[in-house]
Amino acid sequence: MEDLRLDSLPGVGPVTTKKLSDAGIHNVMDLIVRGPVEIAEITGMDKDTADNIVEKARQCLVEGGMISKDFVSATEIYKRRQQIGKITTGTECLDLLLDGGLETQGLTEVYGEFGSGKTQFCHTMCVTVQKPKEEGGLDGTVLYIDTENTFRPERIVSIAKAFGMDPEKALDRIMVARAYNSSHQTLILEESSQMIRENNIKLLIVDSAVGLFRAEYLGRGTLSVRQQRLNKFVHLLVRIAETYNCAALATNQVMASPDVFFGDPTRPIGGNVVAHTSTYRIYFKKSGKKRIARMVDSPHHPEQEVIFGLGEAGVIDPDSETKKKSIMTPKSSKVEAVKPEVKVEPKSDSSVDAGSKTEDIPKVKVEPKSDSSVDAGSKTEDIPKVKVESKTDSVDADAKIEDIPEDSE
Ligand code: GTP
Ligand code: MG
Repeated sequence: MEDLRLDSLPGVGPVTTKKLSDAGIHNVMDLIVRGPVEIAEITGMDKDTADNIVEKARQCLVEGGMISKDFVSATEIYKRRQQIGKITTGTECLDLLLDGGLETQGLTEVYGEFGSGKTQFCHTMCVTVQKPKEEGGLDGTVLYIDTENTFRPERIVSIAKAFGMDPEKALDRIMVARAYNSSHQTLILEESSQMIRENNIKLLIVDSAVGLFRAEYLGRGTLSVRQQRLNKFVHLLVRIAETYNCAALATNQVMASPDVFFGDPTRPIGGNVVAHTSTYRIYFKKSGKKRIARMVDSPHHPEQEVIFGLGEAGVIDPDSETKKKSIMTPKSSKVEAVKPEVKVEPKSDSSVDAGSKTEDIPKVKVEPKSDSSVDAGSKTEDIPKVKVESKTDSVDADAKIEDIPEDSE
């Protein structure tokens, strides 16, 4: 790591080095992660100087083969993607949904209502990432940013025991940072680079990513500031994941929107900012004692749903009968696929959160007959004809619940 020292850059002397390290920039990689605009802002240096330093940092890292050049061949991208690691969820069903597990170099957002298992999923991943590679882990450690004070070491102990791992060692390999407000949450992430590098951190968890921002920026007037700050936080998360080849996992609550007449009246709080940045989005939904996970947005996973459970071992596979069903019933509703085309104004007003207009999904009825009348631009090839209905009964996520055997609360 010697060659990553700030003073190894041409033209960066002790004064600049001090200025940068006072601002929390400790090495060349930090310069890239934070970018020139922010560097100028936090150090007080002018934008041109900051641009210049960041450009030198970039060249240095390109030469060292640590980041890719501006123009890279598809082969190089392919090679870099080959380095992507996958972390097993410890369950067959969620591994199936994620095509092997949680990916490094990307951000996975899990959103869902309270008690849907987001925190339990985070706890489980804290343990599975520590497993050796042959068992689906990355033999790595975890940085857990806890914004809701819901991290429970006892849960780690029981999950580790369930996997036959040493609970003490498992606890030792999880660093927990409790964030008290949204600025603190961002600061923790900004300062995390060194720790990530030195501790072989392979999983970065933020549970919840949005909660503090939501609590602090109330009302419509503060919405744009909130989205801007949240945007910065989430982008930093993605950049860190890409730079250090670790997986980022962020949770997000959903808000009930009584003014949404159609579709599932819940949607992620972060709205568009989080949605557009995360590489994968998974929606967790309660269904009695079972839980449903749906892959909502992914560049290369099929849209499908699986059923899972919660137990001593964290997230668990459902009993075999349900499992069979969950695997045999890939997601049939194409609600997400037609989202952008359906233009029905569900006369929403006021309380609607964030710029999440695309989340105002009207209820669509999926008909098996395929027909060309649906617009282009949607992700799936076989788009069924959609019909907009103004009824409140559910077709989308809820339709799947009926597939689950009765054993609810
Ligand atoms: P919020 O943070 O409130 O939005 O919810 P969440 O999605 O994070 O929910 P969380 O992961 O905390 O899930 C809570 C649920 O997990 C509880 O309702 C329990 O059903 C289940 N759960 C938690 N711990 C245990 C446990 O030790 N054993 C079992 N069987 N279930 C547990
Ligand atoms: Mg939680």
